[in-house]
Formats: sequence, C-alpha cells, structure tokens
Amino acid sequence: MRHVRVRLKARPSQYEIIIGEGTLRALGEVARRSLPSTARHLAIISNERVFGLYGQAAIGSLRAAGFAPQSWLMNEGERHKNLRSLGRALEFLSEAGLERSDGVVALGGGVVGDLAGLASSLYLRGLPFLQVPTTLLAQIDASVGGKTAVNLSAGKNLAGTFQQPRAVIIDTHTLETLPRRELAAGWCEAVKQGAAGSRPLFDQTYRFLREQREETLPRASAARRTAAQLEGLIAAQCAFKARVVMGDEREEIGRTDHLSRRILNFGHTTAHALEAVTRYKRFRHGEAVGYGMLVAGQVSVGLGLLDPSELELLRDAIGLCGPLPRADDLDEQAIRSALAHDKKSTGGHVKWVLLERLGRARIVDERDIAPRLLRASLRAAFSRRLSRT
Ligand code: NAD
Ligand code: GLY
Repeated sequence: MRHVRVRLKARPSQYEIIIGEGTLRALGEVARRSLPSTARHLAIISNERVFGLYGQAAIGSLRAAGFAPQSWLMNEGERHKNLRSLGRALEFLSEAGLERSDGVVALGGGVVGDLAGLASSLYLRGLPFLQVPTTLLAQIDASVGGKTAVNLSAGKNLAGTFQQPRAVIIDTHTLETLPRRELAAGWCEAVKQGAAGSRPLFDQTYRFLREQREETLPRASAARRTAAQLEGLIAAQCAFKARVVMGDEREEIGRTDHLSRRILNFGHTTAHALEAVTRYKRFRHGEAVGYGMLVAGQVSVGLGLLDPSELELLRDAIGLCGPLPRADDLDEQAIRSALAHDKKSTGGHVKWVLLERLGRARIVDERDIAPRLLRASLRAAFSRRLSRT
C-alpha cells in the first residue's frame, strides 16, 4: 500500500491518497480518521454498474467502522453529469438527513466523482467528502485536486467548484473489471501527465506500457510484478498531479508558466473540439486527448520548439495505450471552428499547451500559430496509424 499526501492552502489543509490492492476494505477506517469525529451518516453516490461491483464492500467497511451509509445511484454516462442529476443528488442528501458533520462518498469514475463532489460542496454550503475512484482516469487525475463540475448545454464542466476531498482511496483491484477502452483512455491521460510536466513520469509510464505489451513471464509471476508496478505507477501519477495542484490550487487565470495547473490541459484543446464535432459519441475523453496531444506535438515541432524525435516517442507512447477510434474522416473545417470556441480561452484567445520537450510544457497564444501550421498538424495527427480501422 502507498500513500501520497496533498498539502493545501485552502481547507482541508492536507489529505491523504491511499493506493493499493484491496484498499476498499479500509474505507471505513480511513473515513473514521479523516471525517469529523461526530460523523455518522454517510451518503454514497455511485451508479448501478459500479455499485453492483463494489457497493457491498464499501457499505460493509463503513458499517464496520460505525457509520450508517445510504446510497443513491445516478444514471451512467457523461450525458447525465448535468444539472438534473445534481438536483436529484442534492434532494437525496436532504432526504438522507445529512448534517454538516456527516459526509459524502463518491464511488465510481470521474463522472460520479465530479457530480458527487459538486453536490457535497453545495449541500449545507459544504459537507466533507471522500473520493473512491474506480477508473484509471479518475485514479490518476479526476479524484485528485478538488475540481468538481457538471456540464451545461453550452459545454462540458461549465458549472463547478473547487472542493478538496478529505481522502482519496484508490483500490487498484477495481481496474480488473474496467473495460479495455476505459483503460486505454486512462492511459492516454497518464501519458499526458508525464509529457506535460515530468520526463521521469513519462518514462515510467512508457516502460510500463511497453512491458505490458511485451510480457513474456509466466502468467502468475507477471501478474504479481505488474500489480506492484501498477501500484507504483498510479502513486507516481497521483504524486505528480498533487505537486501541480499544490503549486496552483485554483488554476490562476494569469499564470502561463510551465508549472501552472493549466499544463494539465495538454491535448485538451483539440480533444474538446473532437468530442464536440462527434457529439460526444465517438471518443472517450482520454482517447480524444490522445489525438489532441499529437496535434499539440505537431504544432510544437512546426514552431521549432520540440525535437521531432520526441514527437515520435510521444506517438509511440500513445500507440501503446490501445487503439483509438478513427479521426481521419472528420470535417477539418468543423474541427477548426470548434477549436476556436475552446472554453479555456482567456481574453477571447485560446491558449495552447505545447511542448518544449517531453516533460516541459509551454503555453502559447493561438495567434502565434499560423492557420497553415494548424491545418497540417491536424492532418498529420489524425492519420490512421493509431486508429482501430
Ligand atoms: P466515467 O466516470 O464515465 O466511467 C467510465 C465508465 O466506466 C462508466 O460507464 C462507469 O460506469 C464505468 N466504470 C467505472 N468504474 C468501473 C469499474 N471499476 N469496473 C467497470 N466499470 C467501471 O469516466 P471517467 O473516464 O472515469 O471520467 C470522465 C469524467 O471525469 C469526465 O466527466 C471528465 O470531465 C471528468 N474529469 C474530471 C477531472 C477533475 O479534475 N475533476 C479530471 C479529468 C476528468
Ligand atoms: N484535470 C485538470 C485539473 O485537474 O486541473
């Protein structure tokens, strides 16, 4: 079992991320030491699929620690991360009779975590909450750092708060039931974190993915070794995310340096455009980030910032995450028009996260990227090499 500590200026001033196989069994004990001592009622927010797999383990552990847990299951999927589900979640917290010293437990992927986090920050003006992320993406990214949100009709994550959890409990065992595509999407985000801010993390992620692909050991020993390496890699990913968050808790608007939280949006400008033009139906978010990193990488090479050999290594790493849905048949003009509407724009201009090298990002204003370079980068990045078809 591994521990990563997040220290913050805002309250809670610090929290623990616990990573390991079977940590769900320790949920009650962790809740006991990280929630107010008077806490008794705990509201679990999850969905049917995840609760069916892990709900009883969570409830058993909480009961054994003296809590009275109740659960509410939201509909599954990104399209339900909306104001209607948020309203229902708040009504549930009220019907469950939660008091300010009680708590909320998010059990699921990033959709559940974002919505439960937001509900917990609004109900009674803020209840303590715990994250129990069950997808790779949520374990290395969404559950760490306190961003909560729901989507509005105008776009993703437009209504949200910063609400740091009291603890994050990551049970790597839950990844065994995760569909392959969800894993691939999570790995793309793992590659992103290394590429944007830490070369050693990029290398560790790349090595893990390559060894998994080339595994030659007998099954049992390979599984044991992989489990230990996976735990170490998730801990390293969390420690990286925590470090960035600790340096820029609320993603200050004026910051454009290579340590700002904004670097975590590497690949996201194009990813949001890809998701929008395909009406959120073709790509998992992480898959779209896979292509988005390549577009940003191509632009970086075109501007003379990044060495082409580093772009090749990035492409290799993304290829190891798993096959992506095709992107070479999409309307380029529609993508460029969606790119111009990225919500991360400041003062009306999109800020691109580019690379100076693997592990070091540079924020660049869209006006410094010639339209011809952008068009060529989109075409090069969307080639069929990475796609399933
Ligand atoms: P998700 O929550 O939709 O989960 C993906 C699918 O996997 C769902 O169908 C879910 O029911 C299922 N699932 C979850 N755990 C499972 C398990 N262990 N076994 C089997 N199935 C399981 O998707 P996600 O990729 O986890 O999260 C994406 C969301 O996270 C987006 O809404 C995104 O905006 C948000 N996000 C937030 C942050 C943040 O900092 N708050 C960061 C990144 C992403
Ligand atoms: N996933 C980006 C962030 O947490 O800032």
